[in-house]
Amino acid sequence: MRKERFISDYVVYECEDELGTQDAELLREAHEAARNSYAPYSQFHVGAAVRLSNGVIVRGNNIENAAYPSGLCAERVAMFSAQAQYPEVPIEAIAITAFSEKVEVTEPVAPCGACRQVMVEVEQLAGKPLRILCQGNTGPVMAFDGVETLMPFIFLDKFLG
Ligand code: THU
Repeated sequence: MRKERFISDYVVYECEDELGTQDAELLREAHEAARNSYAPYSQFHVGAAVRLSNGVIVRGNNIENAAYPSGLCAERVAMFSAQAQYPEVPIEAIAITAFSEKVEVTEPVAPCGACRQVMVEVEQLAGKPLRILCQGNTGPVMAFDGVETLMPFIFLDKFLG
């Protein structure tokens, strides 16, 4: 028996002014995307934007449904939309933001487990670490380089034979 420890590296920017041009633009796109969110049940509006290696930015937002599990997170809407429209073009980065009608979202919103699992495969297809930027409506920005920094012990397709 042995004890192991998972340690993750990430960067925190105190606000978006500290970001580089490309990151700042992607984050702005995510904030714009959140305005299209359809979230009548949670009133939690999430926006995502992915940047492709050809420079194209694709937006996504959460879309809820009265049959709750039928809805989809902003991140997966953005990633699936990008992959559907540009199947051959690697995804390099994703930015995620959110605002709520009920509370001030001043902390970064981190992607849910299902979205992280999709990020794993997006990253594999791209062949390089995915950059993940997370912010609330305002406040600090967390930046992760590579999905493994967000999700250790990922499920991999090598187990499928
Ligand atoms: N949601 C996202 O779009 N992304 C996340 O990372 C977390 C949650 C959505 C799903 C649902 O529409 C609402 O936020 C509340 O959970």
